[in-house]
Amino acid sequence: MADGKAFYLTTPIYYVNDAPHIGHAYTTTAGDVATRWHRQRGEDVWFLTGVDEHGTKVERAAAAGGVTPQEWVDRLVADAWLPVLGTIDAANDDFIRTTEPRHAERVQRFWEVVRDSGDVYSALYEGPYCVGCEEFKLPGDLVPGTGEFEGQQVCPIHGRPVEQLAEENWFFRLSAFSDRLLAHYEAHPEAVEPRSAYNEVMSFIRQGLQDISMSRSSVSWGIPLSWDERQVIYVWFDALLNYATAAGYGADPESADGQRFARLWPPDVNLVGKDILRFHAVYWPAMLMAAGLEPPRKVFAHGWLLVGGEKMSKSKLTGISPEQIIDTFGSDAFRYYFLRAITFGQDGSFSWEDLHARYTAELANGLGNLASRATAMVGRYRDGLLPAAHDFSPAEQEIIDALAAAVPVADAAFVALDFQGGIAAVRELVEKVNGYVTETEPWALAKDPANAGRLDVVLYTICEALRAIAVLYNPVMPKAMASLWEQLGAAADLGPIAEQRIADVAAWGQLPAGARVTKGDALFPRIDADA
Ligand code: MSP
Repeated sequence: MADGKAFYLTTPIYYVNDAPHIGHAYTTTAGDVATRWHRQRGEDVWFLTGVDEHGTKVERAAAAGGVTPQEWVDRLVADAWLPVLGTIDAANDDFIRTTEPRHAERVQRFWEVVRDSGDVYSALYEGPYCVGCEEFKLPGDLVPGTGEFEGQQVCPIHGRPVEQLAEENWFFRLSAFSDRLLAHYEAHPEAVEPRSAYNEVMSFIRQGLQDISMSRSSVSWGIPLSWDERQVIYVWFDALLNYATAAGYGADPESADGQRFARLWPPDVNLVGKDILRFHAVYWPAMLMAAGLEPPRKVFAHGWLLVGGEKMSKSKLTGISPEQIIDTFGSDAFRYYFLRAITFGQDGSFSWEDLHARYTAELANGLGNLASRATAMVGRYRDGLLPAAHDFSPAEQEIIDALAAAVPVADAAFVALDFQGGIAAVRELVEKVNGYVTETEPWALAKDPANAGRLDVVLYTICEALRAIAVLYNPVMPKAMASLWEQLGAAADLGPIAEQRIADVAAWGQLPAGARVTKGDALFPRIDADA
């Protein structure tokens, strides 16, 4: 961006009480596709993800596992949370762990700033707490329990009773920020999306905000308060700050970290699941206002992956690991499927049947078949050298026009985090080119040497359209599109696929005549339904 501001996108930092499931991978994948798209636009981009290692939930998981919390998180991060980034092919720029000194020291400094501004005071907290959510609950938040918890009030997300706390804490004066938050969101309706999330946040703030504990005295696994070492910082008020500490908050402005902070702040998108909307759209901007920092430009709350109509989760034993899907279908299909099948911002159900059906129709038979037919025909009819093309007919012009029309639609959609819309624009282009192949019948043209010029035009058109499709799909399916780029022989003249710009992709005629086209491995091999 011209002002030296990078496009800065974050995922939540995930609790390390257990290994990742596809719900966590879903958010990280969405963030990865969005940031790859912005990189492909030529922007300076920073993509942050990481893990939330403190709090009661992690402490209890470690105790149940018979190890110290630090041993527990070290092992899970090394064995599961870092490897999953490779599994889903995420290209994050940084990975923050809340037990790192760079985080802990800056969190302490942040709260000193807020205390000095008069927004922290000591008082007694009495009320319900859900360890699953790591959240102080308001009485109106709880719902009547069912089954074994009949007759009790339970957390609506975890379906279990909450714990009653009574402890001396330090409080954050959240109530002082209602008006400023309302004014901020009235002026910036784009700062919470989708619209349903915005409305929920506004009505929550309008009810009036209550002050909230920012420290815990009955918990030991956390970052100590610098002015009261008997207390640790409440896990959410430690975790939310990761977006600032990882960016370099609190570092000397002349240092590399300080300069990065100037380049990144504020976040352009804090991507979250709707379960943690209130933390991100109410507490988080209020904390930043208290410390004199700009709030995020956008908090986007996506929906839940459901299993049997309920939020998929490890605690309910419905968690599916990303490997279970990726071992069979590959990372590209995983990335494509979840963003294509579910409207971003709404809930969606996962099913193996739907995954298999879309994989087969859209990837194996759709794009994969188009690519393999194109490269095979250039091999068979033109010895693997892309022919020069002259005399385009209206049929080719239709492809050229369809490409020119698809690019701005895809661009606007991906920038708006409408992944389904972005993918649809490219998928329709793939279908259009497949229809062109059926209509022009290059295999029939090849039978008569009199049609050689026409066959050249058709082969060139298919390959040149695939060149554009490869670039447009690269943020979604980087492995398969790198392979397609290779098969088209595009790198020799055009350079690496990652350096192709969205703004240039519709310019026709970029693949040079004579490009060496090879039929490589199938981009999306067929998979048996019962595999
Ligand atoms: N540690 C906090 C977040 C702190 S951010 C400053 C936390 N961690 S979590 O491990 O519970 O991860 C929650 C996030 O994981 C959700 O907001 C969402 O991004 C993702 N998901 C976890 N389960 C999910 C589904 N079933 N469906 C979709 N996303 C899910 O909350």
